[in-house]
Parts: sequence; structure tokens; C-alpha cells
Amino acid sequence: MSGWPARRVLATRRTAIAVTAVLAFAAITGAVAADAGAMPKAAYVGTGPMPGVPDPRRAWADWALDCQGCHRVDGGGSRRTAPKIAGEVAKYLQVAGGREYLGHVPGIASSPLSDARLAELVNWMLFRFDRQHVPANFRPYTAAEIGRLRAHPLRLQAAAVRRQLLQRIRGHARSGTR
Ligand code: HEC
Repeated sequence: MSGWPARRVLATRRTAIAVTAVLAFAAITGAVAADAGAMPKAAYVGTGPMPGVPDPRRAWADWALDCQGCHRVDGGGSRRTAPKIAGEVAKYLQVAGGREYLGHVPGIASSPLSDARLAELVNWMLFRFDRQHVPANFRPYTAAEIGRLRAHPLRLQAAAVRRQLLQRIRGHARSGTR
């Protein structure tokens, strides 16, 4: 380095920093793109039709960004973050008040997604994680319905509403009808 004019040294350093930044950015975006490409189709496509879900892959991506931090990638939840959704969530559709609950539980109502994207995501979640409990006469959520429900988000009362619905679900299961 001795003998180099100071300006040239600075310029060289700046170039080196810029090149490093570009390479790091390329590495990160490349890794993310590769990750999405490697995503197994089974993670976002259901095992049957998904009415009300125009684009399952988009719904899966929305889930990944917006929900799985708490609910986990497989909907398994955890005691410290969020309830288990897998194998459970569509049971809410079987009892009075449950359909509304899924539209204004805080995690859903406060999502930054548009009403249409959120309706798609909720429908997708039901089929992806709990198809077996979706009632035969289920009408997919529409953007308008989700918009109406999320306009009145549950807040402090969420836990009490949830407890009451779970009681109804247990009663429903005991009565023998699914
Ligand atoms: C910050 C953590 C967090 C995020 C993010 C979150 N949830 Fe939740 N979710 C919860 C908790 C906690 C509950 C239990 C009800 C409550 O107290 O809010 C819940 C309840 C639910 C329920 C009802 C299930 C039950 O048994 O009560 C559904 C369905 C649900 N969330 C879906 C979603 C979806 C879809 C998203 C993304 C749009 C999402 N959640 C984002 C924490 C989260």
C-alpha cells in the first residue's frame, strides 16, 4: 500500500465495500429464491379441492410471512406462542359463533393483508391444516365477510370467547355428530 496516493486507497476501499455488499445481497436473495423453489408442493397444495383459494401457493406464502411465526410452519403451535391449528381449526365451523371467531380472532383481524387475500388465507388454512373437520356444507369465506368480521376485532375478550367455543366443541363431539 505504501506509495499509493491516499485518494486511490480510499476509492479502492469504497469499491471493495460496494462489491461485498452486492455479493452479500445476491447471496441472500439467491438463498431465499432457492428456498422457495425447493418448497415441496405438498406444503401448500391440499389433498383435495380448495374452494375459495384462487392461489394456494400465495396463501402459503402469506401464512409463512404472517402467521407461522406464532402458529409454526405445520400449524402445530406451541404452548408459549399460539394454539395448535392442525387437526383442530375447522371444528370451530361446527358450533355457533365459530365462523365469526375465525374472522375476528386478533391474529387474523390484525393481519396487514387485504380482505381478499385474508379470505383466501383463512380458506386455505382450513383445508390445508384441518380438512377432515370442514363441514360438508362449508361456504368459503369471501372478502366481504372477512371485511365485516375483522372490522370488529376481538381484543381482551378473545380468551373468554375461545373458552366458550371450545366448550361448545366438546359438547358437539359428545353429542356424536361430527
Ligand atoms: C403474535 C402471534 C400470532 C400471530 C402472528 C398469529 N396468531 Fe393466530 N393466534 C394466536 C393466539 C395467541 C391465539 C389464541 C387466541 C388469542 O388469544 O388471540 C390465536 C388464535 C388463532 C386462531 C383460532 C384458533 C384457536 O384455537 O383459538 C386461528 C384460526 C388463528 N389464530 C389463525 C391465524 C392466522 C391465519 C394468522 C396469520 C394471518 C395468525 N393466526 C397470526 C397468535 C398469533
